[in-house]
Amino acid sequence: MAVAAHLRKLGVEDGLGDARLLLEEATQLSRSDIIAEPDRLLTDEQALALERLTDRRAAREPVSHILGRKGFWTLEFETCADVLTPRPETEHVVEAALKLIAPEASARILDLGVGSGAILLSVLSERPNAWGVGLDRSVAAARVAQRNAERLGLSGRASIMVGDWDAALTGPFDLIMSNPPYIRSSIIDHLEPEVRAEPRLALDGGADGLCAYRRIVESCARLLAPGGGLALEAGFDQASEVLTLLSETGLYSEFETIFDLAGHARIVSARRV
Ligand SMILES: C[S@@+](CC[C@H](N)C(=O)[O-])C[C@H]1O[C@@H](n2cnc3c(N)ncnc32)[C@H](O)[C@@H]1O
Repeated sequence: MAVAAHLRKLGVEDGLGDARLLLEEATQLSRSDIIAEPDRLLTDEQALALERLTDRRAAREPVSHILGRKGFWTLEFETCADVLTPRPETEHVVEAALKLIAPEASARILDLGVGSGAILLSVLSERPNAWGVGLDRSVAAARVAQRNAERLGLSGRASIMVGDWDAALTGPFDLIMSNPPYIRSSIIDHLEPEVRAEPRLALDGGADGLCAYRRIVESCARLLAPGGGLALEAGFDQASEVLTLLSETGLYSEFETIFDLAGHARIVSARRV
């Protein structure tokens, strides 16, 4: 497809996948409709819409910002420049979290750095008796999470708050989850344009990338109930450092690590003794 070739030439890695999504959006047709009739001609209006969407993607605007939505776990989330685009590897946080609480448990859950609400709302969708707090430092992100909670019919069990990590929380919680900002400050400006288009607050993990983990480990010591579970996403090369931060507290057992599809240790989970 010409759009795919154009995008690939400009350095867009998955030019074909992105071109398919833009075509679906421009035509308002489903993928199966397009596959069933591949030689269908675009109307002038559809062609113009496709050109406009392609120009935005060619300028390296993330697809999730252009479409305003992104699939994650079994749900679809509103996305925009105010929140980190939910990533496939973060689905492993949901997987780890679900292993830490029983299906019928009326667990109290906390998601630190809730962003779009991807982690918290996915876990709540699988645990009908649980309720959760999703907290973010960004007011704009918290608004997106609130809208997602409402749209997904989960706002009755999800309290979205603004705060600086645990400062406004008392707890205790039975499960704490977080995908904190973990990129070293010095490398952010050298990342792909799509990553730089994400909110800086969602990326910047300080000089060594571990600043948020130190705060979160400290918060969990205060907020996590005895026997409670903890699931943290780490950068592709940070899992062992995060494990060390946790084990140094002497508060946890049952450590587990989950690997992403690229083979990187990504998710660290543990249970409070
Ligand atoms: C990597 S994003 C994760 C978003 C979402 N949980 C996900 O996995 O898609 C990190 C989130 O932490 C939030 N954050 C950064 N600093 C914070 C702080 N001091 N207190 C609370 N949230 C913070 C950011 O605004 C951002 O939404």
